[in-house]
Amino acid sequence: MKNLMKLFLAAAVGFVFVSCSKLQNNVLTPAATQNVVHPAGWTQPGSPDFHGTYIKGHGYDLSSCVSCHGADYKGGLTGASCYTCHKGASGPATCNTCHGSATNAAPPNDLDGNTSTSSPGVGAHQIHLAGSTGFDSVSCSSCHTVPDSAGPGMHPSGTGVATLKFSGVAVTQTNTPGTRYYDSSLPTVVPNPTFNSSTLQCANTYCHGNFKGGNNYTPTWNVVNASQDSCGSCHGLPPNDATHQGKGITLQTCYYCHSPMIGPDGTILVDSLHVTGKLELYGKSYSQW
Ligand code: HEC
Ligand code: HEC
Ligand code: HEC
Ligand code: HEC
Ligand code: HEC
Ligand code: HEC
Repeated sequence: MKNLMKLFLAAAVGFVFVSCSKLQNNVLTPAATQNVVHPAGWTQPGSPDFHGTYIKGHGYDLSSCVSCHGADYKGGLTGASCYTCHKGASGPATCNTCHGSATNAAPPNDLDGNTSTSSPGVGAHQIHLAGSTGFDSVSCSSCHTVPDSAGPGMHPSGTGVATLKFSGVAVTQTNTPGTRYYDSSLPTVVPNPTFNSSTLQCANTYCHGNFKGGNNYTPTWNVVNASQDSCGSCHGLPPNDATHQGKGITLQTCYYCHSPMIGPDGTILVDSLHVTGKLELYGKSYSQW
């Protein structure tokens, strides 16, 4: 009886949190009866009343859910645990509940369930995270602020639109005064990357060539067909600066100075040394140049 009273109170609180909610008013009926509190399609994906669809339509706010099902999602006053179906370490607050997959939390799936790389929410996520032949991997934090945990008051914000916040390798500064190869005839490059949500192009990223002698290439996020990562897109062969130009340098001679990262036939031999924010020169790694 005490528990039922608590449930009744929690229901009242629930209604304050969830205006226009689908919750019904007869919570004093025994909780074990299915579909007493929630509408019939609540556990059926595809139904307009499915709880996932409801949550998405209400700013991804789980605060009403935790008021009855407990802050740990293990049932609370209701006894109905979210973990029955959401078996990740944090139940429904696990990072791949609303986006991502078993591989990682990045799309696919995007927030609308899209899986094709031509969908803007999916785009080039996985190729950046995994890296590819000739290229080191890029972490989420290079492009976003990554939340530690999800749930009421934490993440998501509920706008449903991802925020791009570039850091780390994406903003590496080059041609820094005082460094050995500083060229005072060229500006110091301090990248300020942007993402244009209409054209879906990234601009001014260090990674795609916003560095000394680079091409400052503007790749399109949702074109993932190897057309944008050929040698010569991000920087010339060789780059366009006094160190390289007019010296007869070709792809086959890069290795004279940039070994062991690249070999005599112009093949990148060590992926983890390319697009890292560090310059590989004469067998050493320079984090500033
Ligand atoms: C007013 C209290 C209350 C609120 C608020 C509430 N629930 Fe429930 N929920 C219950 C009760 C009681 C049950 C068990 C009876 C039933 O299934 O109707 C239940 C059952 C469920 C079930 C079925 C569990 C199973 O094992 O079949 C799901 C899924 C669920 N709730 C999800 C949610 C989500 C998601 C939210 C937030 C949007 C939420 N609930 C908000 C009280 C609540
Ligand atoms: C309840 C659904 C939900 C859960 C759980 C969730 N996210 Fe999100 N996530 C979103 C939504 C919605 C967005 C779009 C931006 C927004 O609304 O805040 C988003 C955006 C992001 C972004 C893009 C940057 C941003 O904040 O816009 C990252 C990175 C991210 N989530 C990582 C995570 C991680 C890591 C976890 C686990 C700690 C997690 N998410 C759990 C719904 C969720
Ligand atoms: C009976 C199984 C079941 C239970 C119990 C359950 N869920 Fe879900 N939930 C699902 C399924 C299935 C999906 C859809 C997964 C998909 O689309 O891949 C889902 C999706 C979600 C989503 C993602 C919404 C979106 O569109 O991104 C959230 C958030 C969520 N559930 C929260 C909860 C919460 C909170 C509880 C407990 C109060 C709960 N679920 C209990 C089966 C369940
Ligand atoms: C190379 C940069 C980059 C990296 C790395 C990256 N993202 Fe994103 N992410 C983007 C861009 C660009 C978008 C925006 C697409 C748009 O707004 O149309 C986005 C959008 C998203 C969205 C929203 C999807 C939607 O449906 O709108 C989520 C969620 C997200 N990222 C999570 C992550 C997580 C989690 C990671 C790491 C596991 C990650 N991202 C790594 C660039 C990146
Ligand atoms: C996505 C953009 C991009 C593409 C495409 C690209 N590079 Fe690079 N490259 C960079 C960046 C950024 C650097 C600067 C150093 C660093 O961060 O590793 C660099 C540096 C180099 C260097 C100097 C050694 C080093 O790593 O510091 C060589 C040599 C090189 N690239 C060769 C190539 C070859 C060969 C190809 C084609 C297989 C290629 N690059 C394609 C971005 C790119
Ligand atoms: C004779 C030695 C030498 C050869 C050969 C050479 N580089 Fe370099 N490279 C350098 C030096 C020195 C730097 C240091 C920074 C500077 O002066 O710009 C550098 C820097 C770079 C950078 C960082 C951006 C920049 O311009 O500073 C890239 C990218 C690069 N080299 C690519 C290449 C590629 C691609 C080839 C072959 C087509 C090549 N290099 C051949 C000496 C060489």
